[in-house]
Amino acid sequence: MDDPRGRMTKDGIRIHEAADFAGMHAAGRLAAEILDEVAPLVAPGVTTGELDDFIRTRVELAGAKSATIGYRGYQHASCISVNHVVCHGIPGPKLLKDGDILNIDVTVIVDGWFGDTSRMYVAGSLSRKAERLVQVTHDALMKGIDAVRPGATFGDIGHAIQTYVEAQRMSVVRDFCGHGLGRVFHAPPNVLHYGRPGTGPRLEEGMFFTIEPMVNLGRPETKVLADDWTAVTRDKSLSAQFEHSVGVTADGCDIFTLSPAGRFHPTW
Ligand code: MF3
Ligand code: CO
Ligand code: CO
Repeated sequence: MDDPRGRMTKDGIRIHEAADFAGMHAAGRLAAEILDEVAPLVAPGVTTGELDDFIRTRVELAGAKSATIGYRGYQHASCISVNHVVCHGIPGPKLLKDGDILNIDVTVIVDGWFGDTSRMYVAGSLSRKAERLVQVTHDALMKGIDAVRPGATFGDIGHAIQTYVEAQRMSVVRDFCGHGLGRVFHAPPNVLHYGRPGTGPRLEEGMFFTIEPMVNLGRPETKVLADDWTAVTRDKSLSAQFEHSVGVTADGCDIFTLSPAGRFHPTW
């Protein structure tokens, strides 16, 4: 899509203007609100399709658009990834059972701006090992966000996430990454959740992107199922993910998808 304002770096990363942050806040807030509102519905006996129906209706009610419906043939307002599903789980008739952990990922378009966020939920009671995975994944995202400021590199973000996760003896998924966004869903750069300090493009004020680490209890390898979407851990180990959309400010990071209810972390 053509964007007349702002400029582009040599790596093809758009530098947005100060006024553009407001658009991203509106889109990010709606996506985060929807994730807040779906929380009380997550319970054993509920299907992932029912959760998606709620999300689809809620996006319409807000007068917004789902970015995922019609995206490369995808038909749903969310991705719902249960247990060993790493990402891009397709909502459907699958019944949640006690102890299931799930990521719900929503992307909305508000006035042309994209808000993309996901977080973890539990149906019923959380096992100790799932709780640890969810906590480490959440904290890994926050360590990545702590590395966001002008002059840092994308490798610094990946390194902060990877070193933390691997110190907990868990693994970072390599097959999927975060992405630039703004008035488009997926733009440069690829935001890797692993890497070496000082490598990759340098962050500049006005860059908008997601950080969305996927962490596995077992090995990092994934495979995509025959539906061409659902990505699972090859070793069937549990996987978790959290995602925020952020912007680089003069002195750090602006998180567009903060939970208005303070419910981003699953132990609210
Ligand atoms: N929201 C996902 C992301 O974080 C993308 C989902 S695309 C879909 O980038 F088609 F699978 F919905
Ligand atoms: Co994303
Ligand atoms: Co997403």
